[in-house]
Amino acid sequence: MPGFSLKGYSVLEASNYSAIEAMRDGRKIEIRALKPEDQAGLIAAVRRSSAQSLYRRFFGLKRNFSDQEIAYFLNVDFVNHVALVAVIEADGKPVIAGGGRYVVHEPGKAEIAFAVVDEYQGQGIGRALMRHLTAIAREAGLQEFTAEVLPDNTSMLKVFEKSGLRLHIQREPQVFHVALQL
Ligand SMILES: CC(C)(COP(=O)(O)OP(=O)(O)OC[C@H]1O[C@@H](n2cnc3c(N)ncnc32)[C@H](O)[C@@H]1OP(=O)(O)O)[C@@H](O)C(=O)NCCC(=O)NCCS
Repeated sequence: MPGFSLKGYSVLEASNYSAIEAMRDGRKIEIRALKPEDQAGLIAAVRRSSAQSLYRRFFGLKRNFSDQEIAYFLNVDFVNHVALVAVIEADGKPVIAGGGRYVVHEPGKAEIAFAVVDEYQGQGIGRALMRHLTAIAREAGLQEFTAEVLPDNTSMLKVFEKSGLRLHIQREPQVFHVALQL
């Protein structure tokens, strides 16, 4: 079955995306496309996340999701909604340690967001997800990532600053509006 082609890039490829990265402690991690069968793994990742991490990701204390919200997070089309997960092996089983996604909100522009489970934060997973989402977005011909970040979210801002992309931050007291040129 041929993939839908957008500027020479096959969506079938994005939906089969897989790359191996090393975490800072040397452990291997797979960065791969989110799959419909990841529902249980995603819910488990949310359960293992702290209140602060969930607040920073969802701008509110969100631990339970409706069926509709779960369907939204899982039904990615890899064109207007691209989602990657970072999978680590723990006790011989694959475990979702984090994820990143972008959603196109106007032609050429996509909002990007990440969540890494607390015990795996600071290991370079956020930066790796950013790198791979950037590669996919560039191949798809997108021009800009946008993000809403809470002002005290130093690690997210650091991931953006170190992405190598041209960065503009509009600072408001409650939220920073970030724009990154792809
Ligand atoms: C933001 C987040 C995605 C970053 O992912 P991560 O895997 O922890 O990030 P990385 O390990 O790639 O590290 C990014 C940088 O932030 C730094 N960092 C991590 N925690 C930090 C902190 N509390 N203060 C300052 N810097 C910090 C890291 O040292 C690293 O910088 P370095 O490369 O100079 O060492 C992750 O922390 C997270 O999921 N947070 C909760 C949810 C969230 O905030 N989502 C963002 C919504 S837009």
